[in-house]
Amino acid sequence: MFFKNKRILGIDIGSSSIKIAEVDVSRKVNTLQNFSLVSTPPQATAGGDITDPGLLSDTIRQAVTELGTKVKSASSGLWGSSVIVKRISIPKMEESLIPEQIRWEAEQYIPYDLNEVNLDYKILNISSGQADTMEILLVAAIQEVVYTVSDIITGAGLNCEILDVEGFALANCFEANYGISRGQVVGLINVGSSVSNFVIIENGEVVFSRDMPLGGIIYTNEIAKTLGVSMAEAEGMKLGISSGQPVPDEVSAVIENTHDVLIEEISGNLEFYHNTSTSQIGKIYYTGGGSGTVGFGEALGKLVASEQLDPFLGLGINPKVFSRDYLRQIRNFCSVAIGLGLRQKGDK
Ligand SMILES: Nc1ncnc2c1ncn2[C@@H]1O[C@H](COP(=O)(O)OP(=O)(O)OP(=O)(O)O)[C@@H](O)[C@H]1O
Ligand SMILES: [Mg+2]
Repeated sequence: MFFKNKRILGIDIGSSSIKIAEVDVSRKVNTLQNFSLVSTPPQATAGGDITDPGLLSDTIRQAVTELGTKVKSASSGLWGSSVIVKRISIPKMEESLIPEQIRWEAEQYIPYDLNEVNLDYKILNISSGQADTMEILLVAAIQEVVYTVSDIITGAGLNCEILDVEGFALANCFEANYGISRGQVVGLINVGSSVSNFVIIENGEVVFSRDMPLGGIIYTNEIAKTLGVSMAEAEGMKLGISSGQPVPDEVSAVIENTHDVLIEEISGNLEFYHNTSTSQIGKIYYTGGGSGTVGFGEALGKLVASEQLDPFLGLGINPKVFSRDYLRQIRNFCSVAIGLGLRQKGDK
């Protein structure tokens, strides 16, 4: 027991970059020990889907070696259409009967062959408003993708202890930093490159989690199309604006117009939630590389009160590794990896 290694590597596999967070959960204050961000080889993913698992393993293995960590336990996440999270109401029943009922419900709600998915569920503490029903969060993950992701981690020489839903990891990171906001409803958005995770937390419980098939790459696409430049040039212009470099006026205009695409998608999810719940979302916290696009926070702020998520707010930080400047640079990229790294062996 004394020698139990309580560290786990949270590995967030993105289409733009791979993020690895080593978090020490054995102390009073959870501490970020180490962090790595490496580019994802472009040919390893397509449209947010994995196309070359071996290449991802190699990239992770190298990043872990460079981190110089001895930790072998890892957790990673599932995203996109490979995982479905759905809130359902079922008749009130004894806990032992729920799995059977869940299978039956899943037949109706999950558009995949149930023999090819891993099913899980969580009983929500919130009231359904009706005395004879209970609220359940149903989670279905495509087995093939579960195997692929865990093979990627194993292929990197690590032990894959936990596979989480990216949205849940995001929520985990939020709660570790901000605590459980009783009586409050908050939204979280992690704007990636091709996928963005959107989560709603009610009273400390995830009640909604859906990934949107778009992110920061849509700005790059639009710039490339409108200005007739390559994707690499367009990406350079987009990042250039963020760091205050001069770029053609047209670029700013394209970015400004493209915010609407993301905001509309978020707005659609909010509407869906508000149609099924009597609670109102107080605030959305945003993070993810794509949320660094110039003007994104302001555009979101027009829809709903919003604030940049601070993944370090309640964490201890290893001072040997992290300068203030480095923390500022990685802040938008860490949330999911930290949320994964905060998981402990044996967590569901
Ligand atoms: N300073 C910046 N300004 C604007 N956009 C940025 C900035 N830094 C990164 N990005 C964009 O953020 C995106 C990458 O973010 P992130 O690392 O969160 O994505 P990812 O997790 O790799 O992708 P996904 O999860 O969608 O597969 C890219 O689209 C990139 O262009
Ligand atoms: Mg991502």
